[in-house]
Amino acid sequence: MMRRPIIAGNWKLNKTPSQTAAFIRETAPLVSGARCEIVVCPTAACLFAAREATRGSNIALGAQNMFYEDAGAFTGEISPDSLLELGVSYVIVGHSERRALFGESDEIVNKKTLKAIEKRLKPIVCVGESALQRQLGVTEETVRIQTKLALAGLPARDAEDVAIAYEPIWAIGTGVNATSAEANSTIRCIRAVLGEIYTAELATKIRILYGGSMNAGNARDLLSASDIDGGLIGGASLNSSDFAKIALSV
Ligand code: PGA
Repeated sequence: MMRRPIIAGNWKLNKTPSQTAAFIRETAPLVSGARCEIVVCPTAACLFAAREATRGSNIALGAQNMFYEDAGAFTGEISPDSLLELGVSYVIVGHSERRALFGESDEIVNKKTLKAIEKRLKPIVCVGESALQRQLGVTEETVRIQTKLALAGLPARDAEDVAIAYEPIWAIGTGVNATSAEANSTIRCIRAVLGEIYTAELATKIRILYGGSMNAGNARDLLSASDIDGGLIGGASLNSSDFAKIALSV
């Protein structure tokens, strides 16, 4: 297996610190034999509890967001150094909910991606088309633009530390997932873009995940597609046995 798959749970605004710790303790033994990298992304307020609970397990920690400056007058923001101190190794950047609800532009996504890399945090950069963009047939154009803008200025030597998550917005939280053929085809387009930015060879080393209503029932099919290197899972990652089932289906 050339690209080691990642199964990452995006908990969004769910679970308190005590619920986080209990969930991780329950899940750790279920996923200890998984062949993929396993990441959970609790809220920032739960990361300390999560760190304690993940000790000695194969579960890595991710954050759902991070600011692109180290410190300063940025009320409410989360600094990269704080994430590092909390044992975080991955950070989700540019999730469609942050783009839509919190005004995260492609330019901000780019700044966050570059800052994460500078700090040796591994960004999981989200791209994906809306229902309207899909209907109008501009899915490939959309993800192409988002990918290029997110990675602008990122040198080739760092590209392998980035993972892309292809998350069609119409599939997020709807129970309607992209088929494995659809997702694989758009992911191949993203890989082609990576090939244009860098080289075709480097593009084959960058992990591209699928996200959007992935669950214990459809994970095996989605994850068996040639170019889908894991999943970013929302709703189904909140249930320990479902999350474990997905992790074990890689
Ligand atoms: P979902 O969310 O699995 O609930 O569709 C995925 C995501 O938003 O990352």
